[in-house]
Amino acid sequence: MTDKKINIAIDGPAAGGKTTVARIAAGRLGIVYLDTGMMYRAVCWQALQKNCNLEDKAALGRLAEELDLRMIPDAQSGCRVLVGETDVTDVLHNPDINKSVSIVAAVSAVRADMVRRQREMAVAGGILMAGRDICTVVLPDARLKYYLDASLEERARRRLLDLQRSGAEVTFEEVKAQLAERDYIDSHRADSPLVQAPDAKYINCDHLSAEEVADIICKDFSEVD
Ligand code: DC
Repeated sequence: MTDKKINIAIDGPAAGGKTTVARIAAGRLGIVYLDTGMMYRAVCWQALQKNCNLEDKAALGRLAEELDLRMIPDAQSGCRVLVGETDVTDVLHNPDINKSVSIVAAVSAVRADMVRRQREMAVAGGILMAGRDICTVVLPDARLKYYLDASLEERARRRLLDLQRSGAEVTFEEVKAQLAERDYIDSHRADSPLVQAPDAKYINCDHLSAEEVADIICKDFSEVD
């Protein structure tokens, strides 16, 4: 537990282990963890529920602005996501959302609204936020900044294990192709593409466990005055 009110920002590609690392580090430090990807997933969920045309950027922007979204810290899952009174956390990794979320997250009006909400949550300090644009756009002044990377092969291997555990029937090649496509959209979009901030510490997670990466973050945290 800590009374240090500093913010930690983590960016990196899909399935690189950000979520597990962030949950472990925030738990050890006793600070709040916000998974910003879940916010874009919640917008995508609502858009699919409402049969919104995903090419209609203005409609997606309005939908994001009107979304009654609450991110509730939770020791076990890291974060529960409520839309209105409905807890949608457990459906946000469904295949239909995995397929469409990058399209929704590329819409500037959606991003502007999510970034505004994320900054509001960080005003008091003492938050660990993970996503794609946290070090570069949302919290460029965070005291600790990281870019967690891993090879496409390693990320596909980890994602395949997760999917197989939840009973999905997919092949390594399919998972790899879907991750590569999401990487491409996330890092080539015009607004806030995924890039490493020049002042973020680069960590290649290929040969490190989530515990070992969390050790690095917690050690850095202990050295900040
Ligand atoms: O981390 P994730 O896979 O749950 O993210 C879901 C999508 O949202 C993915 O396409 C990247 C995007 N995203 C983003 O653009 N900015 C963030 N801060 C977090 C996620």
